[in-house]
Amino acid sequence: MKLGVLISGRGSNLQALIDACASNILPAEISIVISNRPNVAGLERAEKAGLKCLTIDHKFYKDRENFELALNDALEDAGVELVCLAGFMRVLTSTFTERWSGKAINIHPSLLPSFPGLNTHSRAIEAGCRFAGATVHFVSAEMDAGPIIIQAVTPILPNDNPDSLAARVLKAEHEIYVQAVRWIAEGKLFKENGKVIIEGVESGASYYLPPPHSAV
Ligand code: GAR
Repeated sequence: MKLGVLISGRGSNLQALIDACASNILPAEISIVISNRPNVAGLERAEKAGLKCLTIDHKFYKDRENFELALNDALEDAGVELVCLAGFMRVLTSTFTERWSGKAINIHPSLLPSFPGLNTHSRAIEAGCRFAGATVHFVSAEMDAGPIIIQAVTPILPNDNPDSLAARVLKAEHEIYVQAVRWIAEGKLFKENGKVIIEGVESGASYYLPPPHSAV
């Protein structure tokens, strides 16, 4: 399966996909990596892996529609079958999400539908949540929404701050993003009543990340 990975920055989820493709964990290849921001660390990772990469800087387009046309053209030219948003921080219009309906997924650092948007970890700590996590979901017109494929959960510890929590959740993100892409590439996902069912995974798709050993 040909993947197109969209990034805006660091690219650690991209790296997880690069590593999984290289070690044959994923029956997939990354055909193109596109960043909407120039000179980000994720582009360096893509170059190092010898991948085709492109910067499509949203600032050079007069509106979202024109930016997305360029994005869409690049994805289609590269023969992309699945678009993976990996820290891609642009809101997409319904024209784009409909074109890629069922063929675009996103990873978000919260237990959706709680805490869509930014600063998820500080908001979860502030709210007194006992658990935090991450979600991989199909992309829909609404931001950080759409049918859930897999979630990871980890406890929020009394001494957690947004950075410590983000670091722990990020490790789980890398696991569940690869797993979600793998299920799609293997043709194991289908939708029923707006929910995602995974063939052979009766217990549903969840991943528990225990707290560090030192924690109570
Ligand atoms: C990740 O935590 C990802 O879940 C988040 O941005 C970070 C990107 O890190 N995405 C969103 O917040 C999307 N709403 P990375 O560039 O190292 O993969």
